[in-house]
Amino acid sequence: MEIAPSLLGANLLDLGNEIRKCELAGIHMLHFDHMDGHFVPNISFGPAFVKAVREKTKLFLDVHLMLSDPLRYIDVYAQAGADRITIHQEIENPMEALCAIKEKGLQAGLAIKPATSPTEVIPYLNLLDQILVMTVEPGFGGQLLREDCVSKLPVLKGIIKNASHNIVLEVDGGIKLSNAEHVIRAGAECLVMGTGFFQSEHPEQIVRSLMLGADDCD
Ligand code: DX5
Ligand code: ZN
Repeated sequence: MEIAPSLLGANLLDLGNEIRKCELAGIHMLHFDHMDGHFVPNISFGPAFVKAVREKTKLFLDVHLMLSDPLRYIDVYAQAGADRITIHQEIENPMEALCAIKEKGLQAGLAIKPATSPTEVIPYLNLLDQILVMTVEPGFGGQLLREDCVSKLPVLKGIIKNASHNIVLEVDGGIKLSNAEHVIRAGAECLVMGTGFFQSEHPEQIVRSLMLGADDCD
């Protein structure tokens, strides 16, 4: 089991210490939410933020692009030091963006919004290292987990079983220690946690109870 703290939920005025807190807690990867104010009704940080964090840590950088036109930015995120780039299935041409990510030698992920059926990932399976199931409507941290999205996980487990290679199943949105076991039982292998991790007084306990001893998912 892997946990990917989402820096959108961190204290951005004390980011160095927040990253150090993750490293000391035994975290292997950090999740970045990039929003363009068009694909989602919010705007967050850009590639310079990834670059700054890359220079600060060796952790795996999991970049979630909530952009209408991610293809324009694949190069700059690759140069910034991203390890995995995830784009959304709901954009105009996901295939082209996924190919561009793979051509950069990076891991490629495909995210689906709550209204998107899990079967929509099937045409892209050969290019995917990860599938990201949004368990909230993307755009903001601190929302409540949507049960209707959790029910997609067993369906995706079945779809992934038929793929020629391993594809990690990641969930994002409203994940807390209190509901983590529930999504893990449904099939999640990687949990993005924003407020659930950074607002916890003992994030190291979350890592101990959910991660230690399990295989790495990157
Ligand atoms: C929302 C983002 C999430 C968000 C998670 O659109 O994709 O990564 O930051 O934050 P929490 O865990 O607080 O819901
Ligand atoms: Zn995210």
